[in-house]
Amino acid sequence: MLHDVEAVVLVGGKGTRLRPLTLSAPKPMLPTAGVPFLAHLLSRIRQAGVRRVVLGTSYLAETFSDHFGDGSAMDMEISYVVENQPLGTGGGIRNVFKYLSADDVLVFNGDVLCGTDLTAVVDTHRRTDADVTLHLVRVQNPRAFGCVPTDDDGRVTAFLEKTEDPPTDQINAGCYVFRRDVIESIPEGRPVSVERETFPDLLASGARVSGHVDNAYWRDMGTPLDLVHGSADLVRGVAPSAALPGPPGESLVLNGATVDRTARVFGGTTVGRGVTIGRGARVEGSMLFDGAVVEDNARLVYAVIGAGARVGEGAVVHDTVIGDRAVVGAGCELRRGMRIWPEVVLPPHGVRFSPDV
Ligand code: GTP
Repeated sequence: MLHDVEAVVLVGGKGTRLRPLTLSAPKPMLPTAGVPFLAHLLSRIRQAGVRRVVLGTSYLAETFSDHFGDGSAMDMEISYVVENQPLGTGGGIRNVFKYLSADDVLVFNGDVLCGTDLTAVVDTHRRTDADVTLHLVRVQNPRAFGCVPTDDDGRVTAFLEKTEDPPTDQINAGCYVFRRDVIESIPEGRPVSVERETFPDLLASGARVSGHVDNAYWRDMGTPLDLVHGSADLVRGVAPSAALPGPPGESLVLNGATVDRTARVFGGTTVGRGVTIGRGARVEGSMLFDGAVVEDNARLVYAVIGAGARVGEGAVVHDTVIGDRAVVGAGCELRRGMRIWPEVVLPPHGVRFSPDV
């Protein structure tokens, strides 16, 4: 158990790729499988034995403290540090330095859903006497990411940009162990990217940068499709969490929701509080935020339906985000990564594949 380790979670990003969902809530606070996404990550940190967590906030900073308070409800001590100007990932870590007292600090990107064994990551860090250790995860499509090769001794040898022909399938999983004094060496008071500046500088200066490589469950929740698939994986128990408000299954139906008995709701769908799903509707792998309405015979696949939004009778919503309180008219067909902004009203029987509305 990691009783002598503290954690920092970076949650200051604007989450532009998830707009319009992130207009009203920062990405780590989006309701995901019944709780804010960050609650799943915090539950894993707590399970590993870490109690003290510092959140590096910036965008919509107060939403975090309003929800998590001092952390006692999760048996944690949570403190909040606000950046007036976003300082980037490295700057965000440097900015919380004075709140840290442990020798080893686990640092997380606050938008990653991951099943790695955190104790094993810290063990690698200590065994190799590293300055910094990165969790590196093997993925099937490394072309979509920058990759991070290691040598036989587990040392990171380079940080490579995206390429068509990556030399390794190991990528930066967004979870690190820092020695506390390495955090102090990051320049203060200006934006710094840990990926583009801090890590390459450490390599160039001959520091020991270790890689902890595994095949854990891993997903960056940065895009709508990743968010909806990650949420479904949480609901079905494919992605581990100790914060799921119910047993894993095909759907998670929260209090006050009404699902007609002829509707099919499956594939890891979350049905938020007070949602109504009508007769003959078919809802697969989707996220329905509180108060959404799905009328009779509508079909939803990998859809995110914002709070209080309405999907009309017989409408089809596939791989599309519907903003809060927007209305999709009866018989509309929306597909292929569309985003409907909050409050927008789409008249009945439109067929749209793009652009955003
Ligand atoms: P996009 O705008 O969609 O790229 O999302 P993002 O702003 O969250 O950026 P990105 O996904 O690259 O961020 C990775 C993690 O770092 C997320 O958990 C962010 O909340 C966090 N982060 C990004 N920039 C900052 C920052 O300036 N300060 C702090 N404290 N955290 C940040």
